[in-house]
Amino acid sequence: MATAKDIRPRQDELSLQAQHLSTSPSASFHSPSSHGSALTRTIPLANAKHLKPFATEDIKVLLLENVNQIGREILSQQGYQVEFLKSSLPEDQLIEKIRDVHVIGIRSKTKLTARVLKEARNLIVIGCFCIGTNQVDLQYAADHGIAVFNSPFSNSRSVAELVIGEIIALARQLGDRSNEMHNGTWNKVSNKCWEIRGKTLGIIGYGHIGAQLSVLAEAMGMSVIFYDVVNLMALGTARQVDTLDALLAEADFITCHVPELPETKGMIGQRQFEQMKQGSYLINASRGTVVDIPALIHAMRSGKVAGAALDVYPNEPAGNGDYFNNDLNTWGADLRSLKNLILTPHIGGSTEEAQTAIGVEVGQALVRYVNEGTTLGAVNLPEVTLRSLTMDEPNHARVIYIHKNIPGVLRKVNEIIGDHNVDKQMTDSRGDIAYLMADISNVDASTIKDLYERFESLASRIMTRILY
Ligand SMILES: NC(=O)c1ccc[n+]([C@@H]2O[C@H](COP(=O)([O-])OP(=O)(O)OC[C@H]3O[C@@H](n4cnc5c(N)ncnc54)[C@H](O)[C@@H]3O)[C@@H](O)[C@H]2O)c1
Repeated sequence: MATAKDIRPRQDELSLQAQHLSTSPSASFHSPSSHGSALTRTIPLANAKHLKPFATEDIKVLLLENVNQIGREILSQQGYQVEFLKSSLPEDQLIEKIRDVHVIGIRSKTKLTARVLKEARNLIVIGCFCIGTNQVDLQYAADHGIAVFNSPFSNSRSVAELVIGEIIALARQLGDRSNEMHNGTWNKVSNKCWEIRGKTLGIIGYGHIGAQLSVLAEAMGMSVIFYDVVNLMALGTARQVDTLDALLAEADFITCHVPELPETKGMIGQRQFEQMKQGSYLINASRGTVVDIPALIHAMRSGKVAGAALDVYPNEPAGNGDYFNNDLNTWGADLRSLKNLILTPHIGGSTEEAQTAIGVEVGQALVRYVNEGTTLGAVNLPEVTLRSLTMDEPNHARVIYIHKNIPGVLRKVNEIIGDHNVDKQMTDSRGDIAYLMADISNVDASTIKDLYERFESLASRIMTRILY
């Protein structure tokens, strides 16, 4: 079995590295599940060599905030030392724990500020087992060669299914009928209750969620039109329209799936409500700033909009409780008083399946980064990958050199690796940070140590790792 090891040692470990080789792990390197984003999906070679950082048992992982079980298993199966905590930690305890670990996995409550990351001397990668990465100082992490991964699209299907449910619920006024029954009122009506079959769904933003929704809606017998700033291949018999106005004028149900951008802020306001058909329906499960809520309240009171479902709001409470009031949003009470309005607390992506998919995607991204140095899907470093080294390449090493993007670096790098046979190499930069990956053949342990020391002595150096 070929040996495999990474040196990104602390200086005091350097002398030990040459003798202390770990064996390849028995767990195979799985390809990510279909839940992963296209970007993070890579197909490993059948005889891929399992590169391992340090000795297998040396990789220390700290998982906080009850990270999904499958994510924990993916990391444990690699032989890493995984410490798992159900909650987040107060800053002083976090600083204490983060000092030793190479990998940390968090969700949204743990704040990885520059103050905390400054203490993380061995940290090479952060996994955000969630959608957002606002809780991490991404620039500080990049400046110190720490990669950050998240899982932005694992919950697309969950959102699409919620929207399908809401289309039917609005068409049949289910929210109101259910509320009435809860209050003891029997109100059997068919007036202004519709089937969705044959109606037109207008999707604004035909990305991960919009495209899933398109397929589901057609299966329910709806006609689908969509508007997107990019020209996209329509799925099924869906049809892209040229302008937002064209969509608003034609659709019976309008649903927003655009990102939060300056151009999408207030994208659906008074003028857009005026363009809509009388008695149309609006759904927003994208971002709270996309719909002008006072304009929606006006459109619903006037009867222009027959029903709406909101999952996201301009201001959302940080935790669960009685917070959805006028202190949070001045129009809160007006909104809550409307009929045929479904209000949900940003649960579009909140399903068990989405949590599992996040665990798989982030867990696998961490393993790929630790074992192979691949940054595909990283949010703060350039995206670089090379095909895996194989078992037929036992004396090969992979150099990873994260450095400041300054003139003359590559000349110096080539002076170091120029004497060796470089099988393949890739460099990319993102802002001031560049990431170089090179596979070198015919190297032994002492050559690797020499390469490591020479890379570490360069002025442009942020972090050097050598995997073999
Ligand atoms: N409610 C929830 O729990 C939940 C969960 C996941 C995602 N979201 C939100 O849903 C939205 C869509 O997510 P996604 O994963 O489908 O995103 P995506 O990036 O895959 O797709 C967004 C699409 O919007 C298009 N777009 C961008 N600007 C536009 C504009 N001005 N006009 C028209 N189209 C425009 C893009 O070209 C892209 O095709 C995001 O805002 C995301 O934050 C909400």
